[in-house]
Amino acid sequence: MSEVNQDVPKASDTYRRLLTYIKPFKRQFAYAIAGMIGYAITEASFAALMKPLLDGSFVEQDSQAIVFVPLVIILIFIIRGVAGFASTYYMSWIGWSVIKQLRKEVFAKYLSLPTRFYDNASSGELISRITFNSQRVAQAASSTLTIMVRDSLTAIGLLALMFWQSWQLSLCFLVIGPIIGLIVDRVSRQFRAVSRNIQDSMGDVSHVIQEAVDGSRVIKIFGGQATEENHFEMANESNRAFNMRETAIRALNVPIIQMLVAIALAIIVYLASSGGIAERLSVGEFMSFVTAMLLLFQPLRRLTSLNSQIQNGIAAGETLFATLDLESEIDTGVKQLEPPITTIYFKDVGLRYVSGKPNVLQNVNLTIKQGETVAFVGESGSGKTSLVNLLPRLYDLTEGSIEINGVATTEYTMASLRDAIAYVSQDVMLFNDTIANNIAYGFHGEHDPSALLNACKTAHAHDFIMDFPDQYETMVGENGVMLSGGQRQRVAIARAILKNAPILILDEATSALDTESERKVQQGLEALMSTRTTLVVAHRLSTIERADKIIVMDKGNVVEVGSHRELLANGSHYSNLHQLHSDRT
Ligand SMILES: Nc1ncnc2c1ncn2[C@@H]1O[C@H](COP(=O)(O)OP(=O)(O)O)[C@@H](O)[C@H]1O
Ligand SMILES: [Mg+2]
Repeated sequence: MSEVNQDVPKASDTYRRLLTYIKPFKRQFAYAIAGMIGYAITEASFAALMKPLLDGSFVEQDSQAIVFVPLVIILIFIIRGVAGFASTYYMSWIGWSVIKQLRKEVFAKYLSLPTRFYDNASSGELISRITFNSQRVAQAASSTLTIMVRDSLTAIGLLALMFWQSWQLSLCFLVIGPIIGLIVDRVSRQFRAVSRNIQDSMGDVSHVIQEAVDGSRVIKIFGGQATEENHFEMANESNRAFNMRETAIRALNVPIIQMLVAIALAIIVYLASSGGIAERLSVGEFMSFVTAMLLLFQPLRRLTSLNSQIQNGIAAGETLFATLDLESEIDTGVKQLEPPITTIYFKDVGLRYVSGKPNVLQNVNLTIKQGETVAFVGESGSGKTSLVNLLPRLYDLTEGSIEINGVATTEYTMASLRDAIAYVSQDVMLFNDTIANNIAYGFHGEHDPSALLNACKTAHAHDFIMDFPDQYETMVGENGVMLSGGQRQRVAIARAILKNAPILILDEATSALDTESERKVQQGLEALMSTRTTLVVAHRLSTIERADKIIVMDKGNVVEVGSHRELLANGSHYSNLHQLHSDRT
C-alpha cells in the first residue's frame, strides 16, 4: 500500500489548495481584511499623532491641539479595538470552519478506504492527522494571511510616515534595521529548535506512561518496575532539561532584542540630534519618527517568520491532502443485489495481499446453492478467513471472480452486496455503547424490539445479558472489555441474526465458548441456517458434521470437498484432521 504519491505535489499547489478551503468564507474574510486595514491605519496614525501632541499641545500650547489631540487618542483606540477584534474574530472564524471542514473530509475518507489500507496504518497516526494536522494547517493558513495583510500594511504605513518625517533618518534605519532583524532571527531560530525538542521529549514521556498503563500486568509479573522507572526517569529528565533551556533562551530573548532596539534607537537619536545627517526635526517630528520605528519592529519580525509559517502549513497540508487523495474502495457496480440468493460461485479465485509475495489463495472453485450450509476447515493460516472476506469485498480478489446469481460481485453496488450479508468475524468488534445498541448497530434505532429479543435468545445471549444490573442497557466498555470473550461472540452473533440477511458468514464465531454453550448456540443457529445460505469457518469439527458441504483448505488451496460422511470415507486431509481432533478432545 503506497501512501506516498508518486509525484510529490509542488508546495505552491498545496498552498493554493489550502486557500480553496477559505473561499466559501468570502464575507467573513472581507470583514477580517477590513479589520486588518483599520488596525494598520491606527498604528500609523498613533505614531503620526506624536507630532501635534508634542509640538502643538506642549511646545506651542495651541488651544485647538490641546482639545483635539486627546479626542483623537480616544478615537484611535476605539477604532483600533474594533478593528483588532474584527480581524482576530473573523480570521479565527474562518480558521475553525476550515478545521471543521478538513476534519469532516478526512473522517469521511477514512470510512471509505479499503480494508487493505488499515492493515498497514497506525491508528495513532490516523487520529493525529484529523486532530493535529488539520489544526496546524488551518492555523498556518489564517496566521499567514494575517501577517501578509495586517503586518505588511502596518509596516508600509509606518515606513511611509517615517519617510515623510525624515527620509535621511529613514534611510539610516533601513541600514540598521535588517542587521538587527538578522540577529533577532538567529535567536528565535534557536528558540524554535528547542521548542521542537520539547514536543518530542513530551511525546517520550507520554509514551512511557502509556506503556506502563497498558502493560501493567506484564510489568507486575515480570518485575519490570525498575526498568520502567528508569525509562521514565530518562524521558522526564530530558523534558526538564529542554524546558530549562527554553526558559533561558526565552528569558534572554527579550533583553537581547530590547538591547538591539536600544542600540538602533541610540544611533538614530545621535544622528537626529547632532544635525549631521538630517535637517533639524521638531520634537514632535522626532518622537513621531521614533514611535513609528519602534512600532515597526513587531510587524517586521512577524513578516520575517512568514516563510517558516507557510512551510509549516504546507508540511501539515501535504500529509492531509495525501490522505484525501488516497483511493477509496472501488464501488463502480450499478446493479442491485436482491434476494433470493440462488447461487454463489467462486471462479478460479486467487488472492495475494502483498504484491511480490506468494498467493494466499489460488484456484479456488466453489459453488454454493441457496439454503446450503458450507463449512470451511483447515489448519490455521490456510486461508479460510481470507476466502470468506472476499464475499462482502472486504478485500478484492486478485484473480478470478465471484458471482452471485450469475453476476460478478463487483457489478453490484457495494451497499446492496453488503446488505445481503450478515457476518460474524473472527475477532469481534464492539462499540463503546450499550449491548442493545451494539446488537441493533446499523438499524439507526428503527429495529423491532421483539426481534432483538429473539435474536439474543437464539444467540444464547439473553440470559447473561439479563444477569447484568443494567441488562440490555449495560455499557460494554471500549471494544467490549466488560464482557468475556464468549459473551462478546454471542453479542456479535445476535447482531448478525438481527440483520436477517440472506447470506450468513460465521468465522470461528463460537471459538471462545465452552462446549456446552457452543452446543446451545449451535441449536439456535440451526433453525436459522436452514432458511439462508451459510458459510461457516469451523473451529470444532463436531459443529459442522451436518453441513451440506465441507471444504477442506490447505495452504490456500481447496483440497477436498464433500459431506462429512463422504470425506471420512475417502478423504485423506479431512480424516486426518478429524483424527487429530478426536484425539484432542
Ligand atoms: N491482511 C493481511 N495482510 C497480509 N497477509 C495476510 C492478511 N490476512 C491474512 N494474511 C495471511 O494470509 C494467510 C491466510 O490467513 P487467514 O485467511 O487468516 O487463514 P485462516 O483463517 O485459515 O487461519 C496467512 O498466511 C496470513 O498470514
Ligand atoms: Mg481465520
